[in-house]
Amino acid sequence: MKVAIIGSGYVGLVAAACFAELGNDVICVDNDAAKLAALQAGCTPIHEQYLPELLARHRGTRLAFSASVTDAVRASAVVFIAVGTPPAESGEADLSYVEAVAHDIAQGLNGYKVIIEKSTVPVYTCEWIRRVITMNTPQAFDVVSNPEFLREGTAVRDFFYPDRIVVGADSPRAAEVLRRLYAPLTSGAYYQAAMVARPEGARVPPPLVVTDSNSAELIKHASNAFLAMKISFINAVANLCDAVGADVQQVREGIGLDLRIGRSFFNPGLGYGGSCFPKDLLAFRAVARESGYDFGLLTEVIKINQEQRRLFIKKIRSALWTLRGKRLGVLGLAFKGGTDDIRESPAMEIVKALVGESCDVCVYDPAATANARACLGDSVRYANTPYEAATGAHALLILTDWDEFSGLDFAQLAAVMKHRLIIDGRNLYDPSTVAASGFMYYSIGRPVAQPEPRLSTVPAARPSTPQGAEHTAQARPEEVSAPQG
Ligand code: UDX
Repeated sequence: MKVAIIGSGYVGLVAAACFAELGNDVICVDNDAAKLAALQAGCTPIHEQYLPELLARHRGTRLAFSASVTDAVRASAVVFIAVGTPPAESGEADLSYVEAVAHDIAQGLNGYKVIIEKSTVPVYTCEWIRRVITMNTPQAFDVVSNPEFLREGTAVRDFFYPDRIVVGADSPRAAEVLRRLYAPLTSGAYYQAAMVARPEGARVPPPLVVTDSNSAELIKHASNAFLAMKISFINAVANLCDAVGADVQQVREGIGLDLRIGRSFFNPGLGYGGSCFPKDLLAFRAVARESGYDFGLLTEVIKINQEQRRLFIKKIRSALWTLRGKRLGVLGLAFKGGTDDIRESPAMEIVKALVGESCDVCVYDPAATANARACLGDSVRYANTPYEAATGAHALLILTDWDEFSGLDFAQLAAVMKHRLIIDGRNLYDPSTVAASGFMYYSIGRPVAQPEPRLSTVPAARPSTPQGAEHTAQARPEEVSAPQG
């Protein structure tokens, strides 16, 4: 099938590469000349596993890049809208880019096509797209909602192994076109020789859910809102655990073993970030309000999430007493492990706050440093390894859940740090393991772990030793246990 994709961002570019992999002829359109030139030159502008291989495999054969929406529409049977829907001041989704593309699509229609909204949009957007195109062309067409459920860092894998494919079509003809487009996945044919390995527990083949466009748009917003709610719920429970001295990891285990609740996507931390959850919840709440329903639950989800950053800074303060002038090593700047994206990153918000408290911050991230440097400039120092970031530090902060940070060499850290203090915003470690390595360890929703107390006086009865060989094993000042975090 001939496929046009308007927008070559995190959603559009991944969809273009994956639809080409499924055997379609794809034209990916963008109005950013520099980005188009980079794509045509073989660059991969986003950090996604498998994407470079897919682009290299199909660029110039099944996959072309263009600046012209009209040309791409004319050459295609289906046209995906995958442009940004950033939040407006009010929190509503700014759909001006979607509307502009709808106008351009109308100019290019030269026969029946199916226009497919892939961007995450509020309910009724299909209706608006339909109106804009109807007013600008006599041609026959259908508009369909086909929301994506791609996570950054695993977007290609999520495309080929979705939990479900959702199609919101208001005409049987359009629904049939989408069934044909996704047939390689829903028939299982793709998996006979899949380039992307099947993730454990993947549902193969994925079910195709066909509904109306309003319901499909709501499925997307409601899915993200529920996932964000799960995160805010476990973070709220973690905060309660901190208050009562319980262990949130054990509480999470006990809750999650209930098959109706489950343990996935239920990890406490610094709160959700990224380009989706924060904006989608604001947009979902706004469209609910416009539709006459006050979705107050979302207000609490958002509030708990924002509070999580403040509480972590409070935890840092309780570990260090004063912040001014303190040297802090920071591991992680991306909003989550596996991506270079720092949009709405809790780590970035915390780093900025610590810089504002006149801390001397040295940061390290495996992929997001370049993006972070554009934002932080020379307000922080940049390291090339976690140990470099920890050198001379009064404390080491773990702010992003990169796999690399789950296997740190504590002996090497102890050798370079000024104080043996780790403050983990992602609960990457077992507290007793860290304490056994000689570190004081603060984390989320768990009691502070500290090394075995050092002898503060020489034991009363000791075997005779050469005179003067005895000494008082004073606990080093920095190891005096701080108040509970
Ligand atoms: C999300 C949705 O998962 C995806 O379906 C949708 O299409 C786009 O938005 P994404 O934002 O890329 O994907 O990342 P995700 O892995 O969902 O994580 C979102 C945020 O939640 C990150 O900041 C992550 O650190 C945080 N998170 C995730 C938690 O704090 N705890 C968890 O258990 C899981």
